[in-house]
Amino acid sequence: MLTVNSLFTEYVSDKGAIVKAAQDVSFEVPEGKLFTLLGPSGCGKTTTLRSIAGLEKPTAGQIEVAGVAVYSSQKNVFVQPNKRGFGMVFQSYAIWPHMTVFQNASFPLEVGNKNYTAKEIETKVMRTLEAVELAQYRDRDATRLSGGQQQRLALARALVMEPKLLLLDEPLSNLDAKLREKMRFELKKIQREMGITTIYVTHDQSEALALSHEIAVMRDGRIVQRGTPREIYETPNSEFVADFVGSINFVKGTVKDLNAPNSMMVIDTEIGVLQAPLRSGFVVGEQVQVCVRPEDVFLSEEVPQLAHNNHCHGTVFAKIFLGEVLDFQVKVGEKVMMARVHPSQMTPVDHPIHIVLDPKDCIVIKGHA
Ligand SMILES: Nc1ncnc2c1ncn2[C@@H]1O[C@H](COP(=O)(O)OP(=O)(O)OP(=O)(O)O)[C@@H](O)[C@H]1O
Ligand SMILES: [Mg+2]
Repeated sequence: MLTVNSLFTEYVSDKGAIVKAAQDVSFEVPEGKLFTLLGPSGCGKTTTLRSIAGLEKPTAGQIEVAGVAVYSSQKNVFVQPNKRGFGMVFQSYAIWPHMTVFQNASFPLEVGNKNYTAKEIETKVMRTLEAVELAQYRDRDATRLSGGQQQRLALARALVMEPKLLLLDEPLSNLDAKLREKMRFELKKIQREMGITTIYVTHDQSEALALSHEIAVMRDGRIVQRGTPREIYETPNSEFVADFVGSINFVKGTVKDLNAPNSMMVIDTEIGVLQAPLRSGFVVGEQVQVCVRPEDVFLSEEVPQLAHNNHCHGTVFAKIFLGEVLDFQVKVGEKVMMARVHPSQMTPVDHPIHIVLDPKDCIVIKGHA
């Protein structure tokens, strides 16, 4: 549906230097899917989105929607933003005051280049307001809505044009944590029900994991990994991605064997010898890190009886009670391992404890921190 190919967008800074904000960005989004650009502040997410919208003019590359170029440096094509037929909601969305909910949502239809009859507008607006569950507030002044309702109204305004593509730049960032989580589910529901192809920009990894069909993680203007939420979370390809999408233990080691049974590789690490699923591109003797999510670190007071050797013992260093889970810090030699376990794990601080890591949960990545 949307294809972005080798997109480069640059700015000139105040001091005249070139800022390479998007570099060689390529991805495709199939019809009806939600694709997320995820990354830290300044990595080029908004730039990429604005380039797709036509609000920035890239220096090179190609952007196609349903096989038709809206931008191509090679063919010298640049379709004006208002001719692209995309819907947008930006971080600093504005609800028009002095207008009702209905008037806010119908505004794009009134000013658009198609001439709709009053009846057509009524039908389209009410259908959209129903989708975002604001139909009952149609005559209310838009400023007299809660933050979450205003957010949904901004979304309705983008949806009412039935855009080919919906572009959302941190649309939930103005909301408090609880409302943000609620809106996340609503947004997902609306996107899935309407089957609208969406590009979503966020720096919040849990939002990206919860909403997306596919995620592209960006760093310094480039996409460094693309995959489903599960792939990004379970098999990050670098320390940067592993760290950015959630807390994780990095265990330093050296590759010892690449031919262990069951397609495993063996790593000699600071907490002992560990087995991990074989990944390509490594050589024996290479310095690596074994990454394990805290929820994949299992604790046991007894000596574990296992079919594998991925275990070691340490001492409970600290514990933090978080309600439904308990975070343990366990010291193994000089290394502190984080474990997220069920609150029924009662082992006191300073007591000995065994750590078990399922080999399949150990991800090997290159290099040392
Ligand atoms: N109009 C501009 N002029 C000059 N430099 C810019 C301009 N807009 C963005 N930049 C720079 O381009 C880079 C990418 O910015 P961008 O806004 O795309 O980041 P972002 O990933 O959206 O970050 P955030 O999460 O903070 O919104 C940054 O280094 C930024 O300072
Ligand atoms: Mg931004």
